[in-house]
Formats: sequence, C-alpha cells, structure tokens
Amino acid sequence: MPETMLKKISSAQLSCLQKFGKRIANMSMQMAVFDQTGNCIMHFPAGEDESPNELAEYLITANQNSSDNNNEITGKNSVFTVALKDQQDVVATLIVDASDIVITPDQGIIDFCQTNNVNLEDLTEVVNSSLRNSCYTEDILNDFIVEFDEAEKVSQQFEMIGSELARTYEELVLLYNMSTNMKVTQSNATYLQRACDQITQRVAVEGIAIYLEKKDSFGESLLLTAGSGLVSIEQEMADILLMHLTEELEDDRDALLDSNIDSPFKYSWPDAVKNIIAVPLMGNEKIFGFMVATNIMNKPDFDSNEVKLFSSVANQCAVFVDNGKLFSDIKELFIGSLKALTSSIDAKDQYTRGHSERVAFISRWIAERYSERYPLEEEYVHKVYLAGLLHDIGKIGIPETVLCKNGKLDENERKQIQSHPKIGATILSEIKQMSEVLQGALCHHERADGKGYPEGLVADEIPLIGKIISLADAFDAMTSRRIYRDAMDIDHAISQIEEGIETQFDEKTARVFLDSDIKKLWAIIQDGFIESWDYSNFTEYGALAVGALLR
Ligand SMILES: [Fe+2]
Repeated sequence: MPETMLKKISSAQLSCLQKFGKRIANMSMQMAVFDQTGNCIMHFPAGEDESPNELAEYLITANQNSSDNNNEITGKNSVFTVALKDQQDVVATLIVDASDIVITPDQGIIDFCQTNNVNLEDLTEVVNSSLRNSCYTEDILNDFIVEFDEAEKVSQQFEMIGSELARTYEELVLLYNMSTNMKVTQSNATYLQRACDQITQRVAVEGIAIYLEKKDSFGESLLLTAGSGLVSIEQEMADILLMHLTEELEDDRDALLDSNIDSPFKYSWPDAVKNIIAVPLMGNEKIFGFMVATNIMNKPDFDSNEVKLFSSVANQCAVFVDNGKLFSDIKELFIGSLKALTSSIDAKDQYTRGHSERVAFISRWIAERYSERYPLEEEYVHKVYLAGLLHDIGKIGIPETVLCKNGKLDENERKQIQSHPKIGATILSEIKQMSEVLQGALCHHERADGKGYPEGLVADEIPLIGKIISLADAFDAMTSRRIYRDAMDIDHAISQIEEGIETQFDEKTARVFLDSDIKKLWAIIQDGFIESWDYSNFTEYGALAVGALLR
C-alpha cells in the first residue's frame, strides 16, 4: 500500500474495511477499495484470480459524483460507489458490485422450510431476486459508513487518551523526581532552579523564574530565586505580577494566564511578552512566592495543560520551601541550645565569658584560611566551627570550686580539670554525626611535642581539627584577661604563638594563622562579631554549620 494512503486511512478504518469486505464476499458480491491515485488497495473476494479491473471502470464516475457531502453513495446497475472521507478529504473510493448478491440459507431458514413444507431453493431464489431489486445493498453500505466514521472517532479518542496518559505520566515522573530530590539540606535556589530546568524540558518557554518573598530589616520584598532565559519580568514588574496573580486567585482561578493571541491583553506587560503564565507558591493559605513563565514555544498559547503542570510543580516547590523554613527553625533551635549550653559553662567563670563563641569564630577563621592553602571540604570548616563552640563542653562535669579556684591546683584538682576533654568526647559520642567535632573536643589540649593531654599525642598524631581548636583556644586565652594576669596585646600573643611552633602548636596551622590578617580578626571579635562575615550573625552561620552534620 502506498505510504500516502497509510497516512490517510487509520488502522482502525482499514480493519473496518477488511471486516466489511469479508461480509460482502460471503454474499457473493465484489468489493474494491481504491486510493486517490487509482491504485487498488484492497479487494474482495481476495485472491489473485479475482481482478478488480471491471470495478476500476466505475472510478471515473465515482470521482465525478463525489460531492461535498460525506460518504456519498452512488448506485448504477447494482454497482455502488462510495467516496470515503475523513473530515472533508476523500481518502479512498469504495466500489461494491451487488449484481450477484446471494444469501446462503442458514439453519433457521432450512428449518423453516422443513416445518412449513416450503421448497428451500424456490424461497432462496425469491429472496435473492428481491434483494437485487431492493435497497438492501444501499442499507448495508449506509451501516458500514456509520461504522467507518465511528472507527475513526474511536481511534482519535484512543489517541487522545494515549497522549493524555503520556502527559500525565511525564508529569508524574517530573513530580516524582522533584520529591525524591527534596533534601532539606539543599538550598532553595538549587532546588527551585532544578524545578525550572525540569519544567522547561517539557514545556519550551522563552523565560521562566521563581520569586520568593524575603523579609529583611527594610520589610518584605520579592527576590528572584531561580530562573533562566528571557524572562522579560523586571524586578519592579514582580510586584505588579504578584498583585495581578492575587486578583486572579481571588476570582477563583488557579493561575494568571494572559496573552494577546486571540484577544488584547487583560493586563499590560513589557513589549517582549506575548503570553504569560504565573502560579502561586503557597503555605498556610498565604502566597509567599510565584512561578512565572513567558512566551511558550511550539504552540500558540499556554492552556489548561500548562496550568495543571505549573501548579503541580509550584506546589512541590512550596512544600520544599516550607520544609526548608521548618528545618531552618529546628537548626536555629539546636544551635541556640548548643550556645546556651556552652555559655552556661563559660559563665561558671567570669574570666571565660564568651570564650566558646570566640573560639568557634577563631577556629573557623583558621580553617577557612588553611583551606585556601590546603583545600578542605566546606562541611569540614563547619565542623571545625562547631568543635570550637563545643570544645570545653566536658567542663560541665567539673565542679565549679575546681574550675574557678583562685590559687594553685593540687594533683587531684589538676586531674579533674584535665579530664574535661574526655568527658566532652563522651558527651558528644552520643551523636554519631559529631565524630569529627568530638575529635576537636578530645584533642584541643594535645601539643605538637607530645606534652599535652589526655593522650600525649605527637605532631601529626593529632587530628587537624584538634590542632586548629588548640591554636584558637590558646589565642583567645592569651588575649582575654585572666584572674592572674591582664590580657596580652595582639603583638605579644602573636610572638607567643611564633615561639610555640613545633612545641605547643602544629607548624602548618600556626603559619596559616600568623600569615592571616589577625588585626582584622581581632577587630571583628572586639566589635562582638558585628561586622558581616558572609553570614550576618552567629545564629545564621551556626544553623548553616549544623546543616553540615546532616549530610
Ligand atoms: Fe579546654
């Protein structure tokens, strides 16, 4: 069969023709189907001996009679021609020769004749003669045409259901991928960018973006958090867009859809926008952001399919952002608890107030600079910070009378004080993700020359985290006032560290620290960490550091 025909007649219609042809052949009629170039594509009775040439002669008449009416039947000398149409296009011509129509008597007729003493052959002849002179053939052709049209409709419905299923499945896969990638330790920007990328793999648009509301000291504003392409939505347009989206939602619509394809824009947009869709990101029945896309490609306009897909993805994004807020609250609560705990330990002695927080900051300072020279994982730096914060947690087990003793410690008291790294390690061992933090607390009184405690480790037997905390602890102790001495000035503290290289301190760690801008570090500490340092406050950075424990 020519390829052009395959495109015109659906497989459902072909099978319908095959079925009808067999029925025609059973009644001793002939049938042929011709394509638009006059080729016979099917004939009955089947077989090479049966040539449809005589039926082909009727093609010219059939084509002449083909009118605008669907499936016109033309009859002449017991030959009927039908122009088979799909919509308004003739796709084939069906020709049926009914001149030899014969109905073979079935068992019912045979029984009837026997019961009623009727001659079977006479009855059959009467019936067949009547059939040849009646509209019987035209009736069965009409029935067939209805079936033929129906077959195409059913086939189209199947195709629609199939493509709807395929679209729903793709949507399901997209949402599944989005939910399996929902790791609360991921940033909003990373997750939302992935959502934008995944949706644009399925719906080609010129621009896509997600805006989230951000609260700061100036109030609430919309922040472009993710997106790509020619968005054509300037920052100032974001507020207007949110206002229009809110209006649409108040009118019980699921999304803002606007275009100038079939009618003028409802709202005014920048010139580059031809059509636009926006869906909300909501939590607790409040909009806290939206996803917007402009200028769909490969089709004229956004429609209900895109509304459904964008809304599903935006809901997923909203769940992620909401979970992230909850996660952030819990992290802040946790870091707040750690700070409260360490502060209560520091507060036992008036000379160590704020010590743990300062050691945490100095440790982070050293680790960041160490990483510039000998790269470290970012998460390791966070753990160094937490170790600095928790390094003296073991002091919780030491009586205040010993901790704050004003005078020389006896042997027993010295042993009690020196037990705090081990007590700290025991406490932290309860949390398995704290294993590196534990090393910091355990080893912060070890010395490079092996004269430290609790194990007397030498040089590189001491883990890096221990070396860093030890240096930060010593620097803060030197620069803080003690009951038995005033605080050293910075230059004095620096020279003490220089002198302590390879005895008290690890050389690499100490060199990194001494090469850094210690004066600046000192200024930040003196200002109570007011200066913004990537993260504006203790809680924000602390929460980030706690996140490192969860990866
Ligand atoms: Fe200590």
